Amino acid sequence: MRVPVESGEQMRQLLIDMGLFDKEHRIISEGGFLYIPLKHHNEALKSSLNLDGVELGERSFESTVEGPRSLEDALKDRMSTRDLEYLPRAYDLIGDIAVLEIPDEIRHYADAIGEAFQLIHPHFSTVLAKSGAIGGTRRVREYEHLHGEEKTYTIHTEYGFRIAVDLVKAYFSPRLLQEHHRVAQQVQDRETVLDMFTGVGPFAIHIAGSSECTVYAVDINPDAISLLKKSISINRLKGEIVPVVADASEYARFNFNHNVDRIIMNHPSGAAKFVADACTAIREGGTLHYYDFMGGDNPESLIESKIRQLVEKAGRQVGQVEEVRRVRDSAPYEYQLVTDVIVH
Ligand SMILES: C[S@@+](CC[C@H](N)C(=O)[O-])C[C@H]1O[C@@H](n2cnc3c(N)ncnc32)[C@H](O)[C@@H]1O
Repeated sequence: MRVPVESGEQMRQLLIDMGLFDKEHRIISEGGFLYIPLKHHNEALKSSLNLDGVELGERSFESTVEGPRSLEDALKDRMSTRDLEYLPRAYDLIGDIAVLEIPDEIRHYADAIGEAFQLIHPHFSTVLAKSGAIGGTRRVREYEHLHGEEKTYTIHTEYGFRIAVDLVKAYFSPRLLQEHHRVAQQVQDRETVLDMFTGVGPFAIHIAGSSECTVYAVDINPDAISLLKKSISINRLKGEIVPVVADASEYARFNFNHNVDRIIMNHPSGAAKFVADACTAIREGGTLHYYDFMGGDNPESLIESKIRQLVEKAGRQVGQVEEVRRVRDSAPYEYQLVTDVIVH
């Protein structure tokens, strides 16, 4: 109902008395009029109005009902104070899929947590919960569907690059975003790069997206390579990616002869076994990006001495150690580390 400002309050009271005032929407003041939201109106109301400037019509109003702001807020009436403390504080966002980690103590609330999560973050299509640890050769885990569309496939964006991901078919972690970018920034035009454990190919996409180079992107998991092919088709790349389904050991040994400029070995639980193969492919002065899990007080010195030993065992030498850094926490007191080394 549009009412001149001066009679607005009187009319609001009248509408409350008539049970017509809609308190779940906010009154709008505009151009000397108040627009009062009504629950409904009828001809009787219209004909009883003969005040100057009063009109009925349609428009939208902001809601006065505030939704819950946090999971805790949304679930405080359904869970005990103790259980609320177990609620996840962080989540992974992969494309339009949110992935939560729900502690066993509150697992029986999983559906309610998924529903509450989507109420707070309505822009996600799907809410999943991690179920079990990453394992097997393909490095995948299972997921429990909590809410929204039942799917595990999505397109994830990193630095403007679009990456096709299927969480149950191939490894992908949004937490390696900085690492994908960091390595890609080092690549020069015309380099030959071998990404031995490419997964769905985020390193390859970042690299070929930024430089006119050739990236041999290898993975033993055919689903990972199918997803990489999809990503190649939806990005504008400067360089070329050669997607390959193969065992990285054999592929490195039989397809190169000390002529690869750079090798990425991002398979922290298994890369050590492949260093000798990488050494048959890498050129004199080439760069190896070697990843591993390390604990202890000084994991940086552990990874450095490990890669030196492995390269020496393969009959080559580590020259300069260009970088050693912690990529992320992988377990309590354990980190995923990377070292960039020059191989002679
Ligand atoms: C940690 S994931 C790769 C992550 C990827 N580099 C990224 O940044 O998303 C390790 C990958 O190694 C692959 N893999 C395991 N053994 C392999 C082998 N012998 N040859 C090639 N790929 C292998 C797995 O299928 C998995 O996709």
